Amino acid sequence: MAKITTVSKSKSWVDRDSKVISPSYTRSYPAVIVRGKGVKVWDADGKEYLDFSAGIAVTSTGHCHPQVVRAIQKQTGELIHMSGTDFYYPSQIVLAEKLSGLFPGKEKAKVFFGNSGAEANEAGMKLARFKTRRPRFISFMGSFHGRTFGALSLTNSRAVQRNGFGPLLPQVSHIHYANCYRCPFNLKHPSCDLACANYLEDELFRTTVPAEEVAAIVVEAIQGEGGYVVPPVEWLGRIHKIAKKYGILLMVDEVQSGMGRTGKMFAVEHFRVTPDIITAAKGIASGMPLGVMLAPKSLMTWPSGAHASTFGGNPVSCEAALATIKLLEESLMKNAETQGRYLMTQLKKLQQEYEFIGDVRGLGLMAGMEFITDRQTKKRAAKLRDFVVNECYKAGLLILGCGPNSLRFCPALTVTSEEIDQGLDILRQVLKKAAKKQ
Ligand SMILES: Cc1ncc(COP(=O)(O)O)c(C=O)c1O
Repeated sequence: MAKITTVSKSKSWVDRDSKVISPSYTRSYPAVIVRGKGVKVWDADGKEYLDFSAGIAVTSTGHCHPQVVRAIQKQTGELIHMSGTDFYYPSQIVLAEKLSGLFPGKEKAKVFFGNSGAEANEAGMKLARFKTRRPRFISFMGSFHGRTFGALSLTNSRAVQRNGFGPLLPQVSHIHYANCYRCPFNLKHPSCDLACANYLEDELFRTTVPAEEVAAIVVEAIQGEGGYVVPPVEWLGRIHKIAKKYGILLMVDEVQSGMGRTGKMFAVEHFRVTPDIITAAKGIASGMPLGVMLAPKSLMTWPSGAHASTFGGNPVSCEAALATIKLLEESLMKNAETQGRYLMTQLKKLQQEYEFIGDVRGLGLMAGMEFITDRQTKKRAAKLRDFVVNECYKAGLLILGCGPNSLRFCPALTVTSEEIDQGLDILRQVLKKAAKKQ
């Protein structure tokens, strides 16, 4: 974490925090945020920042979008909680109707409501086991699906997240994600014929994991915490084809990539795949806690009492989600596509200027930049990435890392090209400084 150099209100909050809040959180720098509007936030000392983190890809409509705020305020005056586990209320039903229609493919979905991405994934894992009566799961190296025991058993992005918490769920196998910049098989796409997907049948099922015991393959449409890695367009389809052959369900985690961020409601739509289960959270309600698990009606058949959540899909979060989805459909998803294209063009220019930027990649407003020490070895430049994150913070740009050595750009979907330029001006200054340090 960057050193705080001035005695400030922010410093005093950080001191108080350190005395009472679990030290297990991963804070990159001491930003104490008290107010937000659109793509801007202000800290406890009144300093303004451009926020290219959106609270980790959550505030999809920008901080405190007036329509979302109005929806929340109206609902809090009428009904804050009733619990969908035992009672009915309109906002949950209306949101489920909306989400049901957004599920890709021909069949409409049913919806399970939780409060977070991890809970949505737990629900999906339980449904997969219940429907297949099979014990095993397959997940991917570098993946992040949450920190509860089931989700953590799938998660494979940083050892510290697992260290000391075992035993986790048994019979979860991890295979390589499709990362063409760092092909684990040392091949080139497309001549590789998707060796990383074929590995399932060629190696895993043949030698170690009986396919008939696998309930689900759980995969991020775009790998988020692992480094904003975009797989080749036909990769997910190949995985799905193999899964179908063995009666394995395909569960796609859209917690970070979903809700319009990539220019489509769900990133799987870019890959023309209709999964059996989709999970979403983060950007779905612009910052109110909500996680959903969607599955076709014919799949989500489990008995009353099988799974539920007291707070899941509370009326306030549901109204925030309805307002959010309306904004996404009216204009923000389109804006994510347009601004995402602009952002990518600018990032590619920076890549040409600096040898230490090995790769830039992304879809819509989910863009990553990978730092390396040289272009031949592609050795990861983790310290350089951390330097860039911290210097950007000091210069007024909030940005987060992902993977061991990448930066992620995930601003609100309201971002304008002027705001992207402002952010990249700061980044450019920081990169200049980084280059001098080399
Ligand atoms: C792809 C993905 N799945 C699941 C999660 C877990 O979500 P939550 O922190 O809301 O439990 C995250 C969080 O970063 C995520 O990026």
